[in-house]
Amino acid sequence: IGQDNADYLISRIRSIPGFPKEGINFRDFMPVLADAKAFGLMLDALEQALPVPADEFDAIAGLEARGFLFGPALAARLGKGFIAVRKAGKLPPETIGESYALEYGTATIEIESGMVAPGERVLIVDDLIATGGTAKAAADLIRRAGGEVAGFSFVMELIGLDGLAVLGDVPSSTLVTMP
Ligand code: PRP
Ligand code: ADE
Repeated sequence: IGQDNADYLISRIRSIPGFPKEGINFRDFMPVLADAKAFGLMLDALEQALPVPADEFDAIAGLEARGFLFGPALAARLGKGFIAVRKAGKLPPETIGESYALEYGTATIEIESGMVAPGERVLIVDDLIATGGTAKAAADLIRRAGGEVAGFSFVMELIGLDGLAVLGDVPSSTLVTMP
């Protein structure tokens, strides 16, 4: 998307020190979504930076909540379906779940058991990777549901937490790296 556009996109990411608790510098991409130009650039950049070519995955899975805010838009651009990975307790049975630790707490995510076709190749998207716990849990879920994880696309990566290391030998892409 070019340096000027990248700078514009990055300028729309907001940082809130001390949220949601002391010691965390919260990286907020909501202002990117609120700005039509930045939102379009973000989708362009995600598309250009795909970790594997678009013909090497069948669907996009997004993580509640922030992966729901752009995953479907990216999926629609690429002509793919969107699989919702939800926080626990929101989906009707039959679900499969996976618990994990976060930078600031713990959580459980769930997917509907029939949502992933056998052997379906899935690209997992989320706004941000910190410890990698969420993305790893999503990958484990997709695999247990019978799918294959083709790659991960993140908008932001927090450096110093080594989140990508827990994802194993799967291609990933990140648009912006920040402390
Ligand atoms: C945030 C973010 C990622 C996750 C990254 O979500 O959107 O999903 O944390 O952290 P990790 O790499 O350490 O697992 P959060 O659980 O705060 O939920 P939200 O999307 O509902 O705001
Ligand atoms: N998820 C985990 N760590 C985060 C951070 N520092 N900012 C925004 N989302 C996060």
